[in-house]
Amino acid sequence: MKATIIDGAFGLDNLRQIDRPSAPLGSRQVRLRIKAVSLNYRDLLMVSGMYNPKQPLPLVPCSDGVGEIIERGDGCRRFEIGQRVCPIFCQGWIAGPPSYAVVRNGTLGGPLDGTLCQEMVVDEEGLVAVADYLSDAEAATLPCAGVTAWSALAVESSVKAGQTVLVQGSGGVSIFALQLAKLMGCRVIATSSSNEKLERMKALGADETINYRSTPKWGQAARQLAPPEGIDQVIEVGGAQTLEQSLRATRLGGTISLIGVLSGVAAPLNLLPILMQQVRVQGILVGHRQGFEQLMQAAAAHRLHPVVDDRQFGFSQAAEALSYLQSGKHFGKVVLLAD
Ligand SMILES: NC(=O)c1ccc[n+]([C@@H]2O[C@H](COP(=O)([O-])OP(=O)(O)OC[C@H]3O[C@@H](n4cnc5c(N)ncnc54)[C@H](OP(=O)(O)O)[C@@H]3O)[C@@H](O)[C@H]2O)c1
Repeated sequence: MKATIIDGAFGLDNLRQIDRPSAPLGSRQVRLRIKAVSLNYRDLLMVSGMYNPKQPLPLVPCSDGVGEIIERGDGCRRFEIGQRVCPIFCQGWIAGPPSYAVVRNGTLGGPLDGTLCQEMVVDEEGLVAVADYLSDAEAATLPCAGVTAWSALAVESSVKAGQTVLVQGSGGVSIFALQLAKLMGCRVIATSSSNEKLERMKALGADETINYRSTPKWGQAARQLAPPEGIDQVIEVGGAQTLEQSLRATRLGGTISLIGVLSGVAAPLNLLPILMQQVRVQGILVGHRQGFEQLMQAAAAHRLHPVVDDRQFGFSQAAEALSYLQSGKHFGKVVLLAD
């Protein structure tokens, strides 16, 4: 079977498609034929060597995908041959708080081999059944970006209908957060560096939009758009350079879900607003299988269609697809379909 690997050294130029023997199957494992893979910012960092420079190579990159079960071990009970399933991001994290063992050693696309291959062997406990209405491309977007947005809004906190959620930028996690917050009956304020993307966010249901480039102090503007006190929950993907504005936007007792660090990991920050406004800053690390199952149920009930970027790639075009993600020109998830 063919697999794409980071071969010998980090860098997009070192991605190679190779032939590999199929892995043996354990009694509680299934073999998947991978049909589609979606990219996350993490995959770009992993391939470039910025996520974990000590990651042993070769590595099959990418955490997210969807596959069909083509073989199953004698002891498998959860799924049938022919079913479509998604591997969960953090293999072994089924529910409740994470353990160091699963967080450090159990994530796909590093340190474990990921989804960018024709066939993959996965423990049956590490899979979630895919709803029939989703296309392969749509299903492949859910395990990391979709689950992260769900964990922020519905597992680690619980927004209520009528509350206001702010999503930063128009990346994969933020678009899912916009769609899910609307599904939960919330008002959504979306920010982006691009007016064109803001129009697309409006078409997806955003009630208000702010261009964070032309309005660098967008925190105050956002607060005014959420009277009387400010935003109930911020989906924070910017990190170092955006947290200050998020704190300005957030109401007394509100929540900032700290998900991404696109603008850096360290910056001087006035901590007073966190305590004076009793803001809850909640770190999010994707989420567990139970959260993914809840997300799948909610998505199916509302026929939610994940947003897939117009440009699609084949498995053999991984470097091109990752460069496209890096360019920031995408809207929604960048997907690779099996060749
Ligand atoms: N903690 C977790 O579990 C978890 C899970 C998934 C992702 N993440 C992290 O979350 C972040 C976003 O991931 P993604 O997959 O959604 O990325 P993505 O699809 O590549 O989205 C990137 C988008 O973020 C926006 N952006 C960039 N810099 C920004 C800034 N300074 N302020 C506001 N928005 C900014 C841009 O939107 P515009 O083009 O509209 O300006 C950009 O297109 C990454 O740091 C990723 O590593 C964390």
